Amino acid sequence: MQIVLIEGDGIGPEVTQAACRVIAAAGVKIDWVKASAGMVAAEQFGEPLPDETLEMIRRYRVALKGPCTTPVGKGYRSINVRLRQGLELFASVRPVNTLPGVKTPYEKVDLIVVRENTEGLYAGLEHQVVPGVVESVRLITRPAAERIVRFAFELARRHDRRMVTFCHKADVMRLSDGLFLECARAVADDYPFIQFEEKTIDNVCLELAMDPTQYDVLVMENLFGDVISDLGAGLVGGLGLVPGANLGTRYAVFEAVHGSAPDIAGKGLANPIAILRSAALMMEHVGRGSVALQIERAVVKTLQAGVGLTRDLGGTGTTATITEQLIKNLGA
Ligand code: NAI
Repeated sequence: MQIVLIEGDGIGPEVTQAACRVIAAAGVKIDWVKASAGMVAAEQFGEPLPDETLEMIRRYRVALKGPCTTPVGKGYRSINVRLRQGLELFASVRPVNTLPGVKTPYEKVDLIVVRENTEGLYAGLEHQVVPGVVESVRLITRPAAERIVRFAFELARRHDRRMVTFCHKADVMRLSDGLFLECARAVADDYPFIQFEEKTIDNVCLELAMDPTQYDVLVMENLFGDVISDLGAGLVGGLGLVPGANLGTRYAVFEAVHGSAPDIAGKGLANPIAILRSAALMMEHVGRGSVALQIERAVVKTLQAGVGLTRDLGGTGTTATITEQLIKNLGA
C-alpha cells in the first residue's frame, strides 16, 4: 500500500515518525511516499506547497500529514487552506472523546465536530480597501453548505449517532448563515430518523463548557469549526490527543488538530497520540478497520497504564518513551 507522508514543520517529523513506527509494529506494510510542505518546503523549493506534493496526493489519494507552520500576518497563505481547497477536501472530521486514564472535567464526552473546510471567513479572502481599512469576505454557497450538512448526516447514519446539531450565527449574519441554516434544514428533512437541532455558536460554546456530553455530531462553517475543534480538544485532555481527517470525494488527508508547536519542537517532548489516532482513522478509511481498532486499544492501554507518558499528559516521558509503550501495548 502506498500512502503519501508529509512530515511538516516543528514537531511534525517527530510525531509522524513515531506514528509510522507504531503502524509498522502493527504489521501494516506501507510504502510511504514522502512529499514536502510547510516551512521546510519553502526553504528547500521556494514554495511552501509545491505542485509535486499536490500531484502525489492526487496520484495516491491518501496522505498522512504533520502540522505546517503558517507565518502570522505575513508571508505565504496557509498551506492547509490551499491544500483543502486544491484537493476539495470539503469536510474536516474531528472526533472528540474522553479517553480512559486522562483526567478531564467531564466523563463520557463523545462528539464529532464536522467542519466545512473550503469557504467561510477561514478561506482568507481579504483585501485592503484603503490603508487602515481591510475587508474579509465570508463566502457561503448553497452547494457547499448542503454538501457538508449531508456529509454530517451520512456520518451520523454510518456511525449510529442519534443527533446532528447545526451551529450558526444566523441571528446576526442573516444572509450568509441564513442561507446555511436554510440548507441545513432542507437536508435534515431527508433524515427524519436522526434528530436535528440548530443552535447559535455562542450558545454551543457555553453548553460545551458546562456539559459537553449532551452533544453528538456538530456541523458548522469553517472558522467556527476551527475554534470548536480546539475547544473540544481542551475538553478531553488537550491537543496531543485529538485526531482529524480532511475528506473529499476523491482524496483524503489525515492530520492531528494541533499545530507545529514551535515551543517544544526538536526537544523530543511532543505527544504522538493525536497523529497516531489520525493514522488510525486513515487505516479505517483504507479498509483496515481492525488495525485502526488495534491502534485505538493500544492508545487506551498506554494512557491507562500511565507509563512513559509525555508532559502534556502529566508524565515525565518523551516522544520516544510513549512510542515504546504504544508499540508494547499493540499486542496487549
Ligand atoms: P500548536 O497546536 O502548535 O500549539 C499550542 C500548544 O499546544 C503549545 O503549547 C504546544 O506545545 C502544545 N502542543 C501542540 N501539540 C502538541 C503535542 N502533540 N504534544 C504536546 N504538546 C502539544 O498551536 P500554535 O502555537 O497556535 O501554532 C503553531 C503553528 O502551527 C502556527 O504556525 C500555526 O499556523 C500552525 N498550525 C498548523 C496546523 C496544521 O498544520 N494542521 C494546525 C494548527 C496550527
